[in-house]
Amino acid sequence: WFDRARFIPPDAIFALTAQYLADTSPYKVNLGQGTYRDKNGSPWVLPSVNKSRELLSSQGLAHEYLPIVGLTEFRKEAARLALGDELFAKKQKQLATCQSLSGTGALHLAGLLLRACKTPLPKIYVPEPTWSNHHQVFSSLGFQCESFRYYSPETRDVDIDSYYATLKSAEPNSVVIIHACAHNPTGCDPSKEQWRELARLFKERQLFPLFDAAYLGFNSGNVDSDAFAIRWFIEKTGLEAGVCLSFAKNMGLYGERVGCFLLATNTEQAAVNTQSMLEMLQRSEVSNPPAYGAKIANTILSSTTLRQAWYDDLITMSDRIRSMRKALYDKLVATGAPGSWEHLIRQSGMFGFLGLSPSVVLRLREQYHIYMADNSRISIAGLNDGNVDDYTRKIVLGTET
Ligand code: LMR
Repeated sequence: WFDRARFIPPDAIFALTAQYLADTSPYKVNLGQGTYRDKNGSPWVLPSVNKSRELLSSQGLAHEYLPIVGLTEFRKEAARLALGDELFAKKQKQLATCQSLSGTGALHLAGLLLRACKTPLPKIYVPEPTWSNHHQVFSSLGFQCESFRYYSPETRDVDIDSYYATLKSAEPNSVVIIHACAHNPTGCDPSKEQWRELARLFKERQLFPLFDAAYLGFNSGNVDSDAFAIRWFIEKTGLEAGVCLSFAKNMGLYGERVGCFLLATNTEQAAVNTQSMLEMLQRSEVSNPPAYGAKIANTILSSTTLRQAWYDDLITMSDRIRSMRKALYDKLVATGAPGSWEHLIRQSGMFGFLGLSPSVVLRLREQYHIYMADNSRISIAGLNDGNVDDYTRKIVLGTET
C-alpha cells in the first residue's frame, strides 16, 4: 500500500532544533525555535505556573476524562481573557468554545468547522511570510491557500498597502489568517489606526477574520494591548470571527498543549449549533483533550492572586526580550555591523527578523554554530548578557566574510 508514499522533508524549525542538539560545539547558540529562555539560557517555568501546580497537587489530582469540548471553566476563562470582561459579558451567549491541542489544534478545529459549514470551500488568505504551519494545517484539510505580501523587505515593515489591496480584491466570504500580535516571523504588526482600517475592509468585503493568538500578553507584557485587534474586530465590525488561543508561550506550557478555539457568532442559535459541531469534530479526532495543562492554566486564570502573579511573569518575559533586543541593536551599531539595524527595535515580540541572506544564515550556522531559521528569524529569548557580545561579533564576522 505504501510503495508510493512520498518522502516529506522534516519540518524546518524542528529539524533546526535537532541539528542544534546534535552540535557538539561548546559555543553553540540556539536562536531557532520560539521558546523562552531565562537570563542563564535555561528553560523557565513561570513562578505562577509553579504555584498553580503546587495547588493542584495539594488538592489531589484525579486523572478522569475531561468533557469532549474541554474543561468548562478553562474555556470560559480563556474566552474572557481574549475578549476582556466587558466584551465577554456582551458576547457570552453568542460564543462557541472548544479546548484544543494548543494553537495548532485550535487552527485545525477552525478549519474542520469551516469545512463542515461552508460550501463551496472558502479560500484562505495567508500573509507572506507567516508561520509555516498555517499553510500546512489548511492545505491538509483541502483548502486552497493564497499568500499575500504582508512584509516589505525594502522598508522592513508591514506592507500595509499590499494588505489593503489584497482585502479590497479578496473574494467575499473568504477567510484571512491574522496574527493577533507579534507577527511570526517578522515581529511587525499593524498600528492601531491600520488595524481599524483593516477591520473596516474586512466588513466591507464580508471576510472571515481568523486570529492566530499565540502571544497574548507575551508581546507587550499586557494582555489588553495585545488583544486590541481581536476585540476591535469583534466589537466594531459585528463580523463573526475565530480566535485560536495558545498558552504555550504566554504560560510557558509548550509541551502541555493547552489551547482554545473561540468562535464569536452573531446569534445564540449559531453559538449553540457550532458548539455542538465542535463537540462532534473533537470527538472524532481526539475524543477529549488532555487535562493537566488546562487545569494549570485555569487555576491561574480563575484566581485573582495567581492571575496577578502571571501578569508579573508576562512582564518579566517581555521586558527581558525587549532589553535583549535593545542590547543586540546597540552592539550591532557600536561594532559597525554593515547595514542598518533600526528595524530590529521597531519589531516586537519573541522574534527578531534580521534580514540576512540565506547564505549568511548558513555560514553563521556552519562556521559559528549560531542557529536561526533560514529566513534569518532569531528567537531573541535565546540571547542573554553572557552571549550577546559574542553573538554580535559573530554576526558581524558572518556578514562581512
Ligand atoms: C516557532 O515558530 O518557532 C514556534 O511557534 C514553534 C513551532 O511550533 O514552530
